[in-house]
Amino acid sequence: MTYYYNGFPQSERNEELHMINVDELEEKVKKVIPEGAYYYIASGSENEWTWRNNTAAFNHYQIIPRALTDMDNPKTDTEFMGMKLKTPIMISPIACHGIAHKDAEVATQKGAAAAGALFSSSTYANKSVEDIAAAAPDAPRFFQLYLSKDWKFNEMVFNAIKKAGYKGIFLTVDALVSGYREANLRTNFTYPVPLDFFKRYIGAKGEGQSVAQMYAASAQKIGPEDVKRIKEETGLPVIVKGVMSVEDAYKSIGAGADGIYITNHGGREVDGSPATIDVLPEIAKAVNHRVPIIFDSGVRRGSHVFKALALGADMVGIGRPYLYGLALGGAKGVKSVIDQLDKELLIDMQLTGCKTIDDVKHSKITHINYSSDNLDSITSPDRMKPYPKTADNQIKTDGQTDAVSSASHH
Ligand code: FNR
Ligand code: LAC
Repeated sequence: MTYYYNGFPQSERNEELHMINVDELEEKVKKVIPEGAYYYIASGSENEWTWRNNTAAFNHYQIIPRALTDMDNPKTDTEFMGMKLKTPIMISPIACHGIAHKDAEVATQKGAAAAGALFSSSTYANKSVEDIAAAAPDAPRFFQLYLSKDWKFNEMVFNAIKKAGYKGIFLTVDALVSGYREANLRTNFTYPVPLDFFKRYIGAKGEGQSVAQMYAASAQKIGPEDVKRIKEETGLPVIVKGVMSVEDAYKSIGAGADGIYITNHGGREVDGSPATIDVLPEIAKAVNHRVPIIFDSGVRRGSHVFKALALGADMVGIGRPYLYGLALGGAKGVKSVIDQLDKELLIDMQLTGCKTIDDVKHSKITHINYSSDNLDSITSPDRMKPYPKTADNQIKTDGQTDAVSSASHH
């Protein structure tokens, strides 16, 4: 069940996960991931206000239930940039899946493909793009690019991803330097397993890099010209990842971007930036369907996916939850996480008369400013109190009921 890479434990699990919700995995996964790696994932920058509010802010928007819709059997199938998908839920790029599982991105790709979901891998993946592609040759996948200062590195990456059949590029522009992440400082986190492109290019094993060093290797400045050059050199669509303002949406489209990816890096970069759901409506209105919109950060419920789609997103990415699923269940665990969110999404679709994802994109969302409590459900382990036991509330097994028949006589 556990493999050790130079002493670092890597899960070898490959099992379907049964969960009440994806949030509960965040606690369960502590059983299989070492502390430093866990807090590298489950943490944000500075006071982590944005990390927390990414999820809480979904309460700012409400789904309107609809009745007499005369529909049943909703489907989550969708299409994105010519790719047919079984779900609008996407695997957001995360570095170094090897901190969660021995098969790393290879297993994540398998799980995403099994769920019919779009996958994306990070420049700082543990596994090679060739191995990832071989895991699911026909599955749709995007490559997330940390542009390097060294264009020879970039060209090596471009050649590799084109040969590996990647369908497009997410150019990450919101992480020129690492956000101030106290967790990594407190645990002295470094990547415990090799990052393939580092290994392949700079000869280093790729492990032992700190997050700050990893960022230092990438370009500290990126401009519209870089978008153009990447498009020319790869011939692939380029989606700008890390847009949080109308201005940057316009700038990205003006630079030739084929899509924009609204995210605040899961609250790991600028702490105090808005929750992504709070900037989505205005940006979507400004973009006005000129290019597709990807959205992520804080998505933990099918209702969050619903709200993001209804507020303008074409695809909704998840991050941390699938990495927990990977650690706890390998490829099958990743699929279980996507399936759980799809299950919740389908319930909301049925209860709002949305037969298709397109219907969801056109459904009504209100924006009433309740105070967002965002508590767990009453029966969650954190909130459930011991239930009182009385003479009158115990279920009696056969033979224990009293003489009087319990059948009522009409
Ligand atoms: C990330 N993210 C990220 N983004 C990116 O463009 N390249 C990367 O290598 C990484 N690496 C990474 C590692 C870890 C541990 C996390 C949690 C996140 C950001 C990621 O793509 C996505 O924007 C967020 O994870 C979405 O937020 P949630 O769903 O994790 O709350
Ligand atoms: C992070 C980098 C890898 O958020 O994007 O850790």
